[in-house]
Amino acid sequence: MELYLDTADVIAVKRLARVLPLQGVTTNPSIIAKEGKSVWEVLPALRDALGGSGKLFAQVMANDSERMVTEAVMLTERISGVIVKIPTTAEGLAAIKQLNTMNIATLGTAVYGAGQGLLAAMAGAAYVAPYVNRVDAQGGDGIGMVRDLHQLLKMHAPNSRVLAASFKTPRQALDCMLAGCEAITLPVDIAEQMLLSPAVQSAVEKFEQDWQGAFGTNLLG
Ligand code: E4P
Repeated sequence: MELYLDTADVIAVKRLARVLPLQGVTTNPSIIAKEGKSVWEVLPALRDALGGSGKLFAQVMANDSERMVTEAVMLTERISGVIVKIPTTAEGLAAIKQLNTMNIATLGTAVYGAGQGLLAAMAGAAYVAPYVNRVDAQGGDGIGMVRDLHQLLKMHAPNSRVLAASFKTPRQALDCMLAGCEAITLPVDIAEQMLLSPAVQSAVEKFEQDWQGAFGTNLLG
């Protein structure tokens, strides 16, 4: 199971990389635009925040396959090991096919249906990213889509992995893991909600109180 943060917030990545078993960071154009810095500034800073290693994902901006391929090549030439996110439009599928022949690793993104994700995987995407909450928000079944997609990849595109994305609750993320998806990317607030639990905090405080009441210190002594 690979765990990623879905953010370009360098400070948050540094903070959470210390405690979470992170494989890397995923970004998209909206996430990078929020930071107000160019992709060329943000990606190296994210890699530093991860401690100098880890996978980075960055998305092309072009809409036609030819320019998507050009942008993907530019990204991989300038940011070593980057995995290129390609929206799984018809043009995107053509770009994924082409990039696959060039040994450039891709992630098929903006997946709103299991069939769409399967086509991206069959075209050669190393990962496909179903948008769980966005599907739920449209009245669909995001987890059901992930379950179907996971099964379809196992049967027909075993070299591709489901990297589930777009979450508004920790429950959605856990349900994707239960559905068997191989990777997940969490927004910072959802990762923090999974880390913090008021019940755990109050249990720890009670241990401290009891110990201090007996020994007057909170060290083992
Ligand atoms: C994934 O590729 C996207 O970056 C992201 O997870 C979309 O999340 P959102 O629906 O919260 O914007």
